[in-house]
Amino acid sequence: MTVTQSEAVEERATGTTKYVGQSVDRLDGPAKTTGKARFSAEFPYPGLTYAAVVHATISRGRITAIDTAEAKAVRGVVDVLTHENTPPMKPVPKGIPTSMNAVFSAMLSGTSVNYLATDEVHWNGQPVAVVVAETPETARYAASLVRLTYRELPATLDFAAEEPKAEPQKGGLMGGASTDKGDAPAALAAAAHSVDLAFSTPPHNHNALEPHATTAVWDGDRLTVHDSTQGISGLRKHLSQRFGLPEKRIRVLAQYVGGGFGGKGSFWAGTLLAVLAARATGRPVRLSLTREGVYHTVGGRTPSTQRVALGAGADGRLTALLHTSVSRLGQVGGMPENITGSSRHLYACDNIQLRQSVVRLDLLSNTFMRAPGESIGSFAMESAVDELACELGMDPIELRARNEPERDPVGGKQFSNRRLVEAYRVGAEMFGWRERDARPGAMRDGRWLVGMGVATAYHPQMLMPANATVRIDAAGKVVVQCGLHEIGVGAATAQAQIAADELGVPLGSVRVEHGDSDLPQAPFAGGSVQTASAAAAVVAACAKLKRTLLGLARRSAASPLRGRRLEELEVRDGGLYHGGRGQTYAEILAGAGRGHAEAVIKANMLGFVAKTVRDTRRYVKAASGAQFCEVRVDPDTFEVRVSRWLGVFDVGTVINTRTAESQLRGGIVMGIGMALSEQTLIDGRDGRIMNPSLSEYHVPVHADIPRIDLHCLNEPDPISPLGVVGVGEVSITGAAAAVANAVRHATGKRVVDLPITLDKLL
Ligand code: MOS
Repeated sequence: MTVTQSEAVEERATGTTKYVGQSVDRLDGPAKTTGKARFSAEFPYPGLTYAAVVHATISRGRITAIDTAEAKAVRGVVDVLTHENTPPMKPVPKGIPTSMNAVFSAMLSGTSVNYLATDEVHWNGQPVAVVVAETPETARYAASLVRLTYRELPATLDFAAEEPKAEPQKGGLMGGASTDKGDAPAALAAAAHSVDLAFSTPPHNHNALEPHATTAVWDGDRLTVHDSTQGISGLRKHLSQRFGLPEKRIRVLAQYVGGGFGGKGSFWAGTLLAVLAARATGRPVRLSLTREGVYHTVGGRTPSTQRVALGAGADGRLTALLHTSVSRLGQVGGMPENITGSSRHLYACDNIQLRQSVVRLDLLSNTFMRAPGESIGSFAMESAVDELACELGMDPIELRARNEPERDPVGGKQFSNRRLVEAYRVGAEMFGWRERDARPGAMRDGRWLVGMGVATAYHPQMLMPANATVRIDAAGKVVVQCGLHEIGVGAATAQAQIAADELGVPLGSVRVEHGDSDLPQAPFAGGSVQTASAAAAVVAACAKLKRTLLGLARRSAASPLRGRRLEELEVRDGGLYHGGRGQTYAEILAGAGRGHAEAVIKANMLGFVAKTVRDTRRYVKAASGAQFCEVRVDPDTFEVRVSRWLGVFDVGTVINTRTAESQLRGGIVMGIGMALSEQTLIDGRDGRIMNPSLSEYHVPVHADIPRIDLHCLNEPDPISPLGVVGVGEVSITGAAAAVANAVRHATGKRVVDLPITLDKLL
């Protein structure tokens, strides 16, 4: 008989062993591998129709005519919707919003275009018409027959040409206040040793396995939307605002989402157009974007230019740290990325200057993409630190250790958790760093040049308020209800592990309901906040449930728990025990004549805000890590192969080693893509994206990725729920720099413009 891993874990977990901290199979694994798991484009409805989007082919201007006659004449076309015939949505809320929710909703709105209500075109690819038909093929074919005439206006498209005119950034959701400590320019000029480097990074696009899809169904004045979103409750609020419908009449469902990476964190055209088309046609509508459609309607990562200048004494101690960035926005929507944000926290230095500027171009605005800002900012900063190590003739790990701050370098707050030096020490040992011959090109494997590089990973940790309900029935089955998102990371499995431990029940008896806006509201699956935020609510709900159950037991004269307080009890084997005596929850419920018991936790907003304010006054909190990369470089063609990788991370308590490592590994893969191959190419003449497909936008494939070793220090963060620090984003930070630094070691060449392609090394 074969024992599944879950069963093995189950056995280990009887008695006092806990699920938290173990390697547990994802609970959604069987549903996904058998095809039972339904994604947004897979829900059948009677009378379902299919939508296809017509995209603008100019960057800026006005539509002067839309000829839909030929498209409408195709058999099976239900309707062709344009700004001439579609009742408009309400505009994106702006001005002075009355609530934080409205601010958030406006910021998350992707773009502020009122689709199909305007003849204005703001970027090449903007949706300008939607065909609804009886089959997807008909819709797509008919969409190709819609003829548009435009009056074109001059467009500004070239980031490199415009970047010198960038304006200082004002605020933004992701931060970006400029920082001044001491006099960094003067200290740089006076420094005994210095580096001053200019970097550039290209635009990047999300390529989730599941392209964005929506199934929208109106039933009178009720709306049901299946959507591949990272934020069901935010989307419900946005739909409520755009369609003038109370939130209680809208249900957003996203039980499974096939990858997000930030690209499904905002509200994009595909979702809105599906809802609009369903309202206009009176039929259920499924709109599944093509891969090209995703590039046209979902903002990716901003390109950047950056400068990092560092000054140091001969002992390696930093005397000056300057980091400036220019990023790009579109004309409508978007938010500046906090590219220099982490540079406040990394190195002890008396003179720090950080600046961010922005240009607006006639292109689709950026959005969240895994560690927005930090991923590209860390490429520049960590490349520059490595170059300074070369300049000083000092080991790059030693250089970082000498500049490790005791407190936050700007402002002097305590770090709630900070184990970077330990991460490097453990990593150096595991990776065999001492074998490294520091001279460029000195290490060979046959004809291949070998390079070893390190870089620091850093991503700030946030929390958001969450709600949860936990119920247990007479058979001892537990249901956790929490509107969190399963975007492929094992989020629900993690909460099931937590609930099983808190209640002392087998994992197999816990079910987590998620991905439904009718459930208690959880934060969006972004900013690496979801697991820790939801954990706070689930732990609180379990505690409340145990008190309720103990209360029921104490009412019975026969209960061995009579007179006991929860604090003196052991929680195990599906019940509450004192010494050898106690009762299972099922026995308690039976004794009380109850079918079930339930505990509801509603986020205490005031309490949450008060604690957050207290914590952020005192602490700087982040996930961090040490990235170790080894490359092989062909000495003639300069082909770069990543040959080994180790990431050592400080991410607090690890709930599930398997899924946490999987996320960390995924971020490193994305970082290797950023380092070596990924770039969105834009035609400077018309703003057209030239490579909107997986065949031409090169994400790494299996053959590009070596074995990736991971080690988590696994020390609980003292102020996070269960000590958890998010793992979703930290591991892409520093990854591209680790590759660049390894390439520098192998070849002696510092590549400052991503991606590191052969032409830049020859
Ligand atoms: Mo993430 S880029 O906040 O989904």
